[in-house]
Amino acid sequence: MNTTSKQDRVLIFDTTLRDGEQSPGATMSHEEKLEIAALLDEMGVDIIEAGFPIASEGDFRAVSEIAKNAKTSVICGLSRAQLPDIDRNWEAIKHAKRPRIHTFIGTSPLHRAIPNLDMDQMAERIHQTVSHARNLCEDVQWSPMDATRTERDYLCRVVEIAIKAGASTINIPDTVGYTAPRESAEIIRELLERVPGAETVVFSTHCHNDLGMATANSLAAVEAGARQIECTINGLGERAGNTALEEVVMALKVRNDIMPYSTGIDTTKIMNLSRRVAAVSGFSVQFNKAVVGKNAFLHESGIHQDGVLKNVETFEIMKPEDIGLNADNIVLGKHSGRAALRSKLKGLGIELGDNQLKDVFVRFKDLADRKKEVYDEDLIALVQVAEDAGADRLSLKRLRVVCGTEGQSAEMTMVVDGEEKSCESTGDGPVDAAFNCVKQLFPHAARLQLYQVAAVTEGTDAQATVSVRLAEDGRIVTGSSADTDTVVASVKAYIHALNRLLVRRGKSGSDQKEISYKDVS
Ligand code: KIV
Ligand code: ZN
Repeated sequence: MNTTSKQDRVLIFDTTLRDGEQSPGATMSHEEKLEIAALLDEMGVDIIEAGFPIASEGDFRAVSEIAKNAKTSVICGLSRAQLPDIDRNWEAIKHAKRPRIHTFIGTSPLHRAIPNLDMDQMAERIHQTVSHARNLCEDVQWSPMDATRTERDYLCRVVEIAIKAGASTINIPDTVGYTAPRESAEIIRELLERVPGAETVVFSTHCHNDLGMATANSLAAVEAGARQIECTINGLGERAGNTALEEVVMALKVRNDIMPYSTGIDTTKIMNLSRRVAAVSGFSVQFNKAVVGKNAFLHESGIHQDGVLKNVETFEIMKPEDIGLNADNIVLGKHSGRAALRSKLKGLGIELGDNQLKDVFVRFKDLADRKKEVYDEDLIALVQVAEDAGADRLSLKRLRVVCGTEGQSAEMTMVVDGEEKSCESTGDGPVDAAFNCVKQLFPHAARLQLYQVAAVTEGTDAQATVSVRLAEDGRIVTGSSADTDTVVASVKAYIHALNRLLVRRGKSGSDQKEISYKDVS
């Protein structure tokens, strides 16, 4: 018997490109935003919050292009409770097949104090702005920011005003990650019971993970009647992040017996999106992260392995294939050809054009010469590095480091704007010595904010993936690279970040956010 049709449908609202991207350091380039939006659309996300159009020229451009390209998803832009914000938002999303305006204002006592509005003045502002949005767009979502710390009577009052003014989705944000499951459910239940017209709108939940309860809070809200979950891939977002899409979607799938709600997500696309978001944001996924962590399907201990070999259900509650993890363990080596590489990548959910494949194949051969067995993770790292290699102003030509107990130094040749330049330097360790060479050959004021190394696979011949985050004049970029030589990977990641910074400089700051959604006056 097919029970799906009887289930309540929960809408998945992805805000990776808005709430996720505004996390310091997670800034994505224009092309990366378009790529992630296309993948979300393909995965079946119901609503994509593509950005905050008034924040910067870059945000506006990205939201408009995503709106034009979207095939099925509703495309939503965020705006504060100000008429020019809402107009700008509409300008960006109006070409979407299915546009949505999302507007919000902070309603808790602490947030009301910022624009210095009393309760009545704020209520009036909500009526005015939601009505304005509704005159522009049929689909309007309204959020009382910091709802979970707003007086319940006032929350009911403002939600009623927003519904009367034409909002069809009411989103309840737990802005500071303060609520807990019972309270999250209570709020939704109370709004549904007390607010006239509540049955005519969709209630949505938007949770932050400051106390590690975002997934539990979102699911509790659904059980109480919310029918939209706002979330991000990998839980990307400010501070401890937002509700992770993969967690709520897989929880609803795996525990459908006790939470009989369906989503429209093609879960087999989860892993590829997780990898792409990690790569473009520079926020790698912790190994033990639920659902998409590297260890999520690893069964290391002897007892577990024995159990899993006899019956996978002994210790596994979901199948790796359900999230798009390839179960085939075919390892490529130096004799593998281009067709084998293409088919392996396809199995990993990665489809490349002929030129890209050619480029990845050269890198694969080079790696296979140095490393006996090339695993899935190695290939993913190769693809991610290859994707950004373009018309770069800086590149590494040669590096030699000396390290050991008697001091560390580096000799380097870099190509800077077509010209070869060489130098030598010392430092506190080989990476520091090599980075000092980069600074000598290409002097810059960018500050190093993050330097992170991870081994792609096990073994001493493993590739290292390195992320380097640089900050300059409010611009933050992340560079990444992979190599079996950790120092080479580090220098390439540093140079990658510098190249990205140079591209942003060239755009005279158009990607820089001039306004934050927290400027609520
Ligand atoms: O966390 C929050 O309150 C938000 C709103 C703008 C919806 O992200
Ligand atoms: Zn948020």
